[in-house]
Amino acid sequence: MKKILITGGDGQLSKQLFLELSNNFEVISLSKKDLNITDKKNVKSILSKYNPEIVINSAAYTNVDGCETNSKLAYDVNANAINNFKDFFNGLFIQISTDYVFDGENGPYNESSKTNPLGIYGKSKLHGEEIVRDNFKNHLIIRTNVLFGGKSKANFLAWVIESLLLKKEINVVDDQYNNPVSVYDLSKTIHNLIYAESRGIIHVGSDTLCSRFEFANMIANCWNLNNNYIKPISTEDLSRKIKNYLAPRPLKSGLISLNEYLPILSLKNSLKNIKNQKN
Ligand SMILES: NC(=O)c1ccc[n+]([C@@H]2O[C@H](COP(=O)([O-])OP(=O)(O)OC[C@H]3O[C@@H](n4cnc5c(N)ncnc54)[C@H](OP(=O)(O)O)[C@@H]3O)[C@@H](O)[C@H]2O)c1
Repeated sequence: MKKILITGGDGQLSKQLFLELSNNFEVISLSKKDLNITDKKNVKSILSKYNPEIVINSAAYTNVDGCETNSKLAYDVNANAINNFKDFFNGLFIQISTDYVFDGENGPYNESSKTNPLGIYGKSKLHGEEIVRDNFKNHLIIRTNVLFGGKSKANFLAWVIESLLLKKEINVVDDQYNNPVSVYDLSKTIHNLIYAESRGIIHVGSDTLCSRFEFANMIANCWNLNNNYIKPISTEDLSRKIKNYLAPRPLKSGLISLNEYLPILSLKNSLKNIKNQKN
């Protein structure tokens, strides 16, 4: 059985990846406390202890506004830490990346689209991609956008449902466009990409390009909740309203793939499946 090491084991994607891949692989998933990827000695000792054939680097500093005020940490975690693997690992390195490597001028973007990150998060993630490309002959870079459905602190789906259940008004941006992906669909797709021995860059997005406001309404509709509490707001107005809403966001974003073998991921069905807990 092939061995896979997953980094950032407490993250929303890593938790689901662990469950998804454990059926067919021996999976070691380590949280930051057991594997801090910025610590080279720690990385070396974990790689020599487990000797994995595949590393999935899902660890990241994902607070896009935090990245603006703490750019050193952003570059250390999202980019430079990848260098810590290169001397001790020569298997398949899978890097999870983001649509924030694009500027959001004319999305959705495919794998050949020109990158142009706006903020530190996107810039550090793009630099991470470059380090992966330059140092691991055997690599797969999976870019995705607006993950939902996992168990994490920053969980859009749970926030919308909880707020509407509490009849609490929420402001949701109506000018940021993406095609959100459930962690269940993304994990299954990564599983398939490993089997298909895919390499290079792959974009994973769902079939529905929508604004965050439209997505919140889809959630309300699926959960039969009153959507009157969802109020549209522009990114500009929200950034004036919230003090630490600092990072520039790509507005017209979203990810499409030139790879015709990728399955179509239905956003509506993903929501239904999560609601019915049939994953
Ligand atoms: N969430 C999205 O909408 C989205 C969209 C596109 C791409 N992505 C990418 O998808 C991947 C997974 O995202 P996610 O939503 O699952 O993020 P997440 O829930 O924030 O998980 C990231 C994990 O990485 C850990 N981490 C941070 N610094 C670390 C370090 N130095 N060493 C080891 N672990 C460290 C975090 O631990 P602490 O919390 O304890 O710091 C956290 O558990 C990331 O690469 C992200 O850039 C996410």
